[in-house]
Amino acid sequence: MGALNEALSEALRCTDAGRYTWPMLILGLESSCDETGVALYDDTLGLLGHALHSQAAMHAAYGGVVPELASRDHVRRVLPLLNEALRQADRTLADVDAIAYTQGPGLAGALLVGTSVAKGLAFALGKPAIGVHHLEGHLLSPLLADPPPSFPFVALLVSGGHTQLLQVDRVGSYVLLGDTLDDAAGEAFDKSAQVMGLGYPGGPMIAARAAQGQAGRFKLPRPLLHQDNLDFSFAGLKTAVLTQVRKLPAPLDAATVDDLCAEVEAAIVDVLVAKSIKALHHAGMRKLVVAGGVGANQTLRRKLTAAAAKIKAEVYYPAPQWCTDNGAMIALAGALRLKAGGAVDADHGFGIKPRWPLEEIVIG
Ligand code: KG4
Ligand code: ZN
Repeated sequence: MGALNEALSEALRCTDAGRYTWPMLILGLESSCDETGVALYDDTLGLLGHALHSQAAMHAAYGGVVPELASRDHVRRVLPLLNEALRQADRTLADVDAIAYTQGPGLAGALLVGTSVAKGLAFALGKPAIGVHHLEGHLLSPLLADPPPSFPFVALLVSGGHTQLLQVDRVGSYVLLGDTLDDAAGEAFDKSAQVMGLGYPGGPMIAARAAQGQAGRFKLPRPLLHQDNLDFSFAGLKTAVLTQVRKLPAPLDAATVDDLCAEVEAAIVDVLVAKSIKALHHAGMRKLVVAGGVGANQTLRRKLTAAAAKIKAEVYYPAPQWCTDNGAMIALAGALRLKAGGAVDADHGFGIKPRWPLEEIVIG
């Protein structure tokens, strides 16, 4: 853990660490969509406990997340998960020094559950609460590795709701280099899976089927691939998949589905890889950090690592368990924000931010 601390402290330029008594134990709560995550992060010892419940199976029957069901399930899960995280960490609530929670963006009702628990605990324990931007959690999640990558780096943030390239100079300094004009990469996986009747979430389903198929038998578009910008557009992909499916005799045979999945995955991955390499050139950097649920995709990892090696760049990936939503990334982001001089909540209100641009969370 020594390497972890040295690298983090240096990278953080701990401007405001003196405001608090360090080391601190940060409780992290994530409830923005369909995962309830609770974790305890000690800025000296690292991650001490983490508990997670995914609602994916519950939403699968509906082909996507049903917001009201998500909120109700967060209510059911959050306190047992908190107890589990405390048990793993061998700590009690009295040991918690600050509470970080996902304040946004996300589903309003779902966000309210984690926020209510965080604010209630903060009030009862007399400790600060820190509203964390969900995407900052994803962005910083590769820093859970030991040793973590050092700043600065280019980040490829690929989740169900976002596909962005960012220049990250330090904690709290995020410059948007490229964004999706319509659907996110994860959304493209999910919607394509839905068209093929594969269920939700589509990314892991398509990845599993793609591993048995061949890309190239069907030809899908690689949107904006050759355009001289860092933007993405994935909305046309699901339409192209639908058009292709309608041309084929129903029901699709297994080999056809495998080949279609391989082409969907290849189309998305080709664009993500090309634009990431372009972003490294644009920023004049040789370090890329991948974050978000789609970052768990093994084909993306393989092709990105190979493309980066050609320009002598390094790519860092979070461990697969930290790619999708979790409490550990929120606890870590809360700790890093506090150290970097980020503000704690000024009141005990439930100020959730279902829509929240990342540019608003810049520190300093
Ligand atoms: O980051 P995340 O858990 O939640 C959001 O904040 O959106 O990302 C979820 C997204 C979903 O669209 C899911 O299909 C995708 O990540 N995903 C994957 C894989 N695992 C999850 N996409 C491709 N390959 C995977 N292995
Ligand atoms: Zn997420």
